[in-house]
Amino acid sequence: MQGTAMKNEKFLNATSIFRSQATTQTSSKSVRGESASPVKKNIKIKVESFNFYYGNTWALKNIQIAIKENNVVGIIGPSGCGKSTFLRCINRMNDIIKNTRAEGFIYIDGKNIYEKDQDVVTLRRDVGMVFQKSNPFPKSVFENVAYGLRINGVKDQRVIAQKVEKSLKDAAIWDEVKDRLSDSPFSLSGGQQQRLCIARALAIEPRILLLDEPASALDPIATSKVEELIHQLKKEYTIIIVTHNMQQAARVSDFSAFFMMGELIEYDATSKIFTNPSNKITEDYVTGRFG
Ligand SMILES: Nc1ncnc2c1ncn2[C@@H]1O[C@H](COP(=O)(O)OP(=O)(O)O)[C@@H](O)[C@H]1O
Ligand SMILES: [Mg+2]
Repeated sequence: MQGTAMKNEKFLNATSIFRSQATTQTSSKSVRGESASPVKKNIKIKVESFNFYYGNTWALKNIQIAIKENNVVGIIGPSGCGKSTFLRCINRMNDIIKNTRAEGFIYIDGKNIYEKDQDVVTLRRDVGMVFQKSNPFPKSVFENVAYGLRINGVKDQRVIAQKVEKSLKDAAIWDEVKDRLSDSPFSLSGGQQQRLCIARALAIEPRILLLDEPASALDPIATSKVEELIHQLKKEYTIIIVTHNMQQAARVSDFSAFFMMGELIEYDATSKIFTNPSNKITEDYVTGRFG
């Protein structure tokens, strides 16, 4: 009972985000005014008839979705519904897992990344990823961010230093670490480590950023910094963020995709998903009746 009540409270908070936007923000029109189906222009990622299997487990079922450039898409759904699997399909990280199979199409800028001639290293450079648990390398703060540049063949120390600084600034952590560049990243707070990992992902200038529950291990202040960062980053990147926190999805995303048991149940403007979803199952989930 109590759990349900708490979840309902979460939902009310999520919907109230839109109510307050409607009264206080004139610019909220850009979100609220989206048409029901994602429009065709500026499509960055298009997924068509996509299936994914771990052995006999059918983890993603006939997924269709189109994601616009410079949008933030929130992926929500109960544990085990395929959110992380979906994210990892977009930069073919699942290729590393044995006995898996992908079927169908994922187009990025019009090119199917599952075609045989796709270079996976290039793909992963273009599609950066940040995980739930921050995973800095056991190198200095500076070298964590420089790493991707070095493995991509950048040798000029001045260029590396400039890019490291820019990435740390873009990840909104420069001021906190500029005097600690040679320190171990493990001396940073959890929130700082996570932003460092975002800086590391940004350093190699991806086009798309995949974030898998990036704030789930963070305290509220660190979480709000990461959310603020996402708002800033969407000017330059297309972002897909998995979150189990519905208020977070409501706050940061333009569109939301609700997955359940490997299926994409509903995909629409976030305001619609949280206030007036088309599908009864979506409504049950966002109102906290299950999950
Ligand atoms: N490495 C793996 N090997 C086998 N099955 C997996 C693996 N990763 C995930 N799965 C299965 O795929 C389904 C979706 O998992 P996942 O994408 O991790 O869900 P979510 O991120 O929504 O919690 C689950 O049934 C899960 O058990
Ligand atoms: Mg997951």
